[in-house]
Amino acid sequence: MSLQGQQSKTWFQRAKKVIPFGVNSNFRYWGDDDTLIITRGKGAHIWDADGKRYIDYRLAFGPIILGHADERVNARVAEVIENGTLFALTTPLEVQVAERVARLTGVDKVRLANTGTEATMHALRIARAHTGREKFIKFEGQYHGMHDYVLFSTASTPIEQAGPPHAPRNVAMSKGIPKHITQYVINLPYNDLEVLEETVEKHAHELAAIFLEPVMGNVAGIMPRPGFLQKMRSLCDRYGIVLVFDEVKTGFRLAPGGAQQYFGIQADLVTYAKAMGNGFPVAAIGGKEEFMMTIEPGVVSHGGTYTANAVGVAAADATLAIIETEPVHKTIEARGRALMDGISEILARHSIPHAMTGHPSMFAYILGTDTPPLNLRDYNQGNADLYEKISLRLIQNGVFPETDGREPWFLCAALSEADVAETLTKFETAVRSSLEHK
Ligand SMILES: Cc1ncc(COP(=O)(O)O)c(C=O)c1O
Repeated sequence: MSLQGQQSKTWFQRAKKVIPFGVNSNFRYWGDDDTLIITRGKGAHIWDADGKRYIDYRLAFGPIILGHADERVNARVAEVIENGTLFALTTPLEVQVAERVARLTGVDKVRLANTGTEATMHALRIARAHTGREKFIKFEGQYHGMHDYVLFSTASTPIEQAGPPHAPRNVAMSKGIPKHITQYVINLPYNDLEVLEETVEKHAHELAAIFLEPVMGNVAGIMPRPGFLQKMRSLCDRYGIVLVFDEVKTGFRLAPGGAQQYFGIQADLVTYAKAMGNGFPVAAIGGKEEFMMTIEPGVVSHGGTYTANAVGVAAADATLAIIETEPVHKTIEARGRALMDGISEILARHSIPHAMTGHPSMFAYILGTDTPPLNLRDYNQGNADLYEKISLRLIQNGVFPETDGREPWFLCAALSEADVAETLTKFETAVRSSLEHK
């Protein structure tokens, strides 16, 4: 059964005529019959072109931390853009946003960007310039954006190409990436302390950075095992390697100060985007003084015509002010816990082996095993078919997670207790009907 109603169908056909596959990001293509057209969002809800309402747990892959069309953020953007949007000179508001980011996250200095991709691209350049080395470690299943250097071995790596679990091969995630740049990437299994230590000791002299999502934001929110991040921090200190936390998904979400605050570890450089602007395009590279001051006009480049544009900056100012002063994270955590407990209880009642993963603000679950996964290979052992079946039934019923279980369920502060109750009722129905129609 197609997810599309008549209006979605009509708009999608029209979209396909002028937009490749009818979408402006490959991740949004769900097939010709299931790619929905969305016309509106408010709070925790979105509506498709046929007027059907969904409780939204995709939240645009994470940015919506307060809720769709938050009136305080929208009002601030509307007010600020009345005075112009872009000057190619510094404005007081961007100073204020940098101060907020520094205060919330503990970084010394901040440069703004527009997207996560832009932020990670610059962070890698800064790390290379700082160390004079060119290679970096990345973890299998992690995603750092669309630029060539990092587009290897993401969560969609075909298992038959992936190589042995302890020495995963670099698999380019797209055609069009020069094959020689694979030499710069050392790809490791996440959460394996021994392999990490061995590799760093062997390659220290050529390693610019260890680049990681502290939580596997693109593989079911898998958390670092105790000691993993600490080990990484101490290896980087010992060998002068730049520790880069890609907090594009975890930043301002796991806690007001992101994963650094949550795990009590400061990286050398950190990248932010998504929750920083509640859905407006704004991002940042932050870090310790010594590393950020590697940026130098005429020596180490960072820039962009639209960096610190008034739209993104105003949205970040409003969003971060709300995060600083209101119990956004407490609300999200309470709702997330209730959902995680409720989902687990329903799965258990239907005798479905499962493990809950992630943090209440971005959680997931694996089916078919009750062993919590530690990395991409573990996650791939789960029952993805059943996961997709349940998710499709949820969507048909007005609850909208991603059908691919590697993408966590994201929560926003606008999600109410009633939304949680409705979700759990519909989850029960979806599970029951998935089991009945195997
Ligand atoms: C961890 C992480 N880093 C970087 C990016 C890229 O961010 P953007 O899509 O804003 O370029 C993403 C996007 O999902 C991400 O999840």
